[in-house]
Amino acid sequence: MGKKLSDIVAGYNANSHLAEAHTIPSSWYVDTRMAELENDAVFGRSWQAVGRASQVAESGQFFTAEVAGERIVVVRGPDRELRAFYNVCRHHAAAVVTEAEGRAANFRCPYHGWTYGIDGTLKGTPDFDGVCDFDRSKNGLAPVPVATWEKFVFVNLDANAGSLEDFLGGLMKRVAPLRLASLRFFERRSYELNCNWKVYVDNFLDGGYHVPYLHKGLNSVLDYANYTIENEDRFCLQSSPVETSSANADADAAATRQGNRAFYFWQYPNFMLNWYEGYLDTNLVQPVSIDRCRVIFDFYFAGTGDTAKEYNQQSVAVSHRVQEEDTGICEAVQRGLHSRAYAAGRLSVRREAGEHLFHRLLHADLKAALARTANLSEQSGTGTESSAKEEC
Ligand code: FES
Ligand SMILES: [Fe+2]
Repeated sequence: MGKKLSDIVAGYNANSHLAEAHTIPSSWYVDTRMAELENDAVFGRSWQAVGRASQVAESGQFFTAEVAGERIVVVRGPDRELRAFYNVCRHHAAAVVTEAEGRAANFRCPYHGWTYGIDGTLKGTPDFDGVCDFDRSKNGLAPVPVATWEKFVFVNLDANAGSLEDFLGGLMKRVAPLRLASLRFFERRSYELNCNWKVYVDNFLDGGYHVPYLHKGLNSVLDYANYTIENEDRFCLQSSPVETSSANADADAAATRQGNRAFYFWQYPNFMLNWYEGYLDTNLVQPVSIDRCRVIFDFYFAGTGDTAKEYNQQSVAVSHRVQEEDTGICEAVQRGLHSRAYAAGRLSVRREAGEHLFHRLLHADLKAALARTANLSEQSGTGTESSAKEEC
């Protein structure tokens, strides 16, 4: 510790080619100031997946979520418009909506009973007569940009954010042929790991490097030698031929990982889609603290009904086993990152191009945030503020 935050960020050289590159420094995974910077520069400024479009298909349906420490509510309005708001009462800041999801005609704050329409407008303020200079129309729930893509709802805490389409870029074209609309949501599982969120993302993006060593069951149905890694825009696509017919294939993995090819997409900074024929799971990686993260898995399948249920459950169980293997190694890595003997590592040219992309995108966001802060402090004191106070 003791090093300036700008020096820590500058400790990564984003200009190196993959063959020359180092990983981001270990301090990025263990210094709490990095978590605060990322909260603002990454999670507070990127489009974040918060839920499923099917949860808000009908007027009045809503769900709540948390992004960069902010509570959010997403709701389909009476006019069928999808909206998102900060779930913060304009009176004294209580959370207005306390359920995870549901259907409502309006939202009533549990603290003093202020009522908001599901379009965010403030409707009712009990015992508030005689309050001066209070404009009800300016005291609705504060809006948050919201948009959908495929089966997913995204929000962006940056009021001046570009469009979700621009953010996702080429990912939309690559995912479209997989026809995700034909799959149905089956189950959610949430895992908490004792590692920084970036350790989990790095592990996902190592181009299958760890698969033969850590995931022997999964490895038995993937063609490791022909694994491909493609970087584009803000996403990486890792893909592997699937071979379930070999005598060495793990029975559960072979039964539940079907089709000719597996596709593993990662969208910067923290959203993954893992696709096999008739199967999709998404992973959302959320920082909890510098040393802890949460990974939310949503499972979707082509088959529904009782006959499909057993297959779907078996498939979720295979994923659970793989996740437990990943959890163990990610937590071991986090401990190693604290070691005085480790500062940064090198990257495999054959396997780890995805990590290289991740580290460069992250560096660009952190550098931009530090530059904004520096500009603001230069400008501070030059602005003039007028406050015209109206008489009551
Ligand atoms: S905090 Fe919501 S009504 Fe008072
Ligand atoms: Fe893994």
